[in-house]
Amino acid sequence: MTSNKSAPGTKPQTELQTRSVLPGFIVFEGLDGAGTTTQARLFVERLRAGGAAVVATAEPTDGPIGRRIRAVLSGAEQASDRTMAYLFAADRSEHLDDPNHGVLAELHRGRYVVCDRYLFSSLAYQGSLCGFEFVRMLNAPFSLPEHLVFLDLQSKAGLERIKARGRSEIYETPHIQDTVYHGYRQALEQFRDSTMQIHHIDGSAAPEAIAEEVWSRIAIAPIH
Ligand code: TMP
Repeated sequence: MTSNKSAPGTKPQTELQTRSVLPGFIVFEGLDGAGTTTQARLFVERLRAGGAAVVATAEPTDGPIGRRIRAVLSGAEQASDRTMAYLFAADRSEHLDDPNHGVLAELHRGRYVVCDRYLFSSLAYQGSLCGFEFVRMLNAPFSLPEHLVFLDLQSKAGLERIKARGRSEIYETPHIQDTVYHGYRQALEQFRDSTMQIHHIDGSAAPEAIAEEVWSRIAIAPIH
């Protein structure tokens, strides 16, 4: 655990600013309909085309805890907002630490790991629904990615894209999406001075234009 104490005369650093960063770990975040899945996929394809070894992954995962979360998101099962915060954190812990295919193991093998959503989703969604401080504490043990891509799309535009898909989940209402948007702004502000690189990108452009912008922002040198 990193010490929070500062040398005399220096500005005190918060725990969010001193958290460790995982080189080669790249995360896409945004509201529902903002395009995180599409952009993560396009980024992975471009990395692979350049010959890099890349693992594409997502949260919630497709493991047992992730499947339970999906059941609640679809409305088939029930859980309180606090329980969801615990479930997302437990799923994240498994996702990072699984000795075979966990994020840490894959990074250790010298692969890039590109992830569709991570702890910033918990801060934005569960933070808005059951208290930012509670969710921040639950997620305090998790390291930060090297790059965080935030696809900035307001809730109305995101919900219109979702409608076209024809299925909906419990967080996909205008009120929740508006609150979550502010949750993301609050979360990003908290990490402004961290060593993680934050790329704040307009999510309303065409997918190809966004992909180009993401690529130009993240200067990737092979890590193996
Ligand atoms: P997806 O539709 O992008 O796969 O994400 C599933 C939903 O889960 C989406 O509404 C965002 C939400 N979510 C949280 O509320 N907290 C989290 O920690 C994560 C990873 C996702």
